[in-house]
Amino acid sequence: MTESGISPTSEVSTRPVVARTRGELARGLAALRAEGKSVALVPTMGALHAGHRALVARAIGLADAVVVSVFVNPLQFAPGEDLASYPRTWDADLAALTADGAALVFAPTPTVMYPDQPRVTVHAGPMGEVLEGAHRPGHFDGVLTVVAKLFNLVRPDVAVFGEKDAQQLALIRRMVSDLDLPVHVVGVPTVREPDGLALSSRNAYLDPDARIAAAHISAALFGARAAAPKGPLAVTAVARAGMYGKKEFDVDYVTLVDPSTFEEVAEGFEGTALLATAVRIGSTRLIDNVPVELPGRPPR
Ligand code: PAJ
Repeated sequence: MTESGISPTSEVSTRPVVARTRGELARGLAALRAEGKSVALVPTMGALHAGHRALVARAIGLADAVVVSVFVNPLQFAPGEDLASYPRTWDADLAALTADGAALVFAPTPTVMYPDQPRVTVHAGPMGEVLEGAHRPGHFDGVLTVVAKLFNLVRPDVAVFGEKDAQQLALIRRMVSDLDLPVHVVGVPTVREPDGLALSSRNAYLDPDARIAAAHISAALFGARAAAPKGPLAVTAVARAGMYGKKEFDVDYVTLVDPSTFEEVAEGFEGTALLATAVRIGSTRLIDNVPVELPGRPPR
């Protein structure tokens, strides 16, 4: 104990083991498994913020040891997207993961992850061709391929993903069930700034004016939920009016979908739908979604 009564050992977080190669990862995992520990995996592309950290916090509660991957996956970026400029903040990431109690951080180079250009990849299928998939062709094939590789390299008992990327989460759940992957997938609700903007590594690209405008995305989505008793068409119309009416916004889509199929919901849909949008503000493309409870057809 120190004079302040704080035990130094209980206050000092242990730095996670950092694995940069497959061998280092295998050794780190073997040490955890030798202690009989269950493992939760949190895949990320780094530039960690409170949204990522909420996933780590959830993972800590789900397994004995948390493995976080930090890898900006070239396979999920199309030519002309922000692969080269994607924020990389390794020192801050490692400090956050130390404070949050991760046991192991897997941070491979592209060559470690893809020793050869892969010829066999995971194909997302029809659910990967709508909304985000329509605007980013091949994106979800790249996401699912790297996530399948991470599952095989880490063999986690559970893997944690954010509802912020709802289509990605739905596709990962579908991949796990369609390919019988032995992992339990857990989703975590979107963490937001006080003004409602969903946390995203890409928020770092926003200049002050764009940042102010960006708060309107979640305002439009949450505002449209009030129309839920009038049905899906009304919700969509209110959300579209809010999004397309904002002069700073170049909107890709505003769609109300079934969260398990990502098909647009029809009039009369009952249950939880997702109101999803993607918008460009200047050169920054942001996505967001909110759940909408639809009561079904109103009684006559
Ligand atoms: P990345 O954008 O770094 O996100 C990593 C995880 O954090 C994803 O599961 C994402 O949904 C979650 N996340 C991001 N912002 C969040 C927020 N505001 N609240 C809650 N969770 C949030 O998504 C990817 O990386 C990649 O596609 C990846 C799955 C790592 C594959 O390369």
